[in-house]
Amino acid sequence: MNNSPFLSNSTAEIIRRAAAGLKAGHLVAFPTETVYGLGADARNPIAVKRIYEVKGRPSDHPLIVHISSINQLEKWASEIPDYATKLARVFWPGPMTLILKRKDIAKDFITGGQDTIGLRVPSNPIALALIQEFENLSDSAIAAPSANRFGHVSPTSARAVIAELGEHLKPEDQILDGGECAVGLESTIIECLQDNPRVLRPGVITEDMIMKVSSRLPKSQPSEIPTTGIRVSGSLENHYAPLAKVLLDLIPTNGQGFIAMSSTPTPLGVIRLASPRDHEEFARVLYASLRAADEKMLSVVVVQQPKGDGIAIAIRDRLRRAANGR
Ligand code: TXA
Ligand code: MG
Repeated sequence: MNNSPFLSNSTAEIIRRAAAGLKAGHLVAFPTETVYGLGADARNPIAVKRIYEVKGRPSDHPLIVHISSINQLEKWASEIPDYATKLARVFWPGPMTLILKRKDIAKDFITGGQDTIGLRVPSNPIALALIQEFENLSDSAIAAPSANRFGHVSPTSARAVIAELGEHLKPEDQILDGGECAVGLESTIIECLQDNPRVLRPGVITEDMIMKVSSRLPKSQPSEIPTTGIRVSGSLENHYAPLAKVLLDLIPTNGQGFIAMSSTPTPLGVIRLASPRDHEEFARVLYASLRAADEKMLSVVVVQQPKGDGIAIAIRDRLRRAANGR
């Protein structure tokens, strides 16, 4: 599939070259276990500015800084509550982002001018190797949003990154191919600024799991636009959206796309885009299926939402925003 000038398989040599590219101020898209990220040197304002240009994202939306281990936490964050340390010990590397008070090293161009910083240690081995290699070269870390245009569906394959960003990248930029993302939905974002953790974006790390580890009841973000003034673009009411109109929990009709659990049959004339057997698979295939709707130029895709808790909560969160359109 190496038909793009940006795309590389992720050998050790390629990862070294990608880290050097980051050091030189170029962009590197890389796989994580959640979705693909578009990375830049978190201490290089010019490189970070290009992330915003390539994504078409407003510059006051903060970026997550990806670090290689919990040992890097205090380099970027201060006033770390005990419960945040516990969460980091248990869920890192993994699909969890912690929002903490920033240290001076985290400049306004990363945090959107806020005095907090989002930090994550991803578990994908290519991501970890790239971050480690880059930290060794640079005394920095990798700032990376999801590798899609602003408001679009996050990419869960290298091919999807090319479809989203290919025309906006420069020849020096790179895309590391790591196959399909294992989780398929963005990380759980947990604000750790008060006595209790607060979930700003649900994900595969659920409130129950947070509660068990931190012994504190997480406050969940109400399902409206945050009122705190925190800019979480993923919490905008229209986000994660394909071009096709997304309709929830209806019976699809002739010519419409359809995503539902495998136990739900496909009505005649309907184009089945995914039939996941469990909620983990639902999360994993959801974004690729929404992309497939656009590739097939369908005008409507109907999704039967998964019921219950666990990752189904995050799936419904993304679907509700997708249903609000672009
Ligand atoms: O799984 C993920 O989190 C992926 C992979 C690449 O790590 N990244 C990702 O980044 O989804 P992005 O930028 O597409 O979404 C991160 C969200 C944004 O909505 C951003 O506003 C929010 O995190 N965020 C980042 N720093 C923040 C901060 N200091 N305070 C509040 N929200 C923050
Ligand atoms: Mg995003």
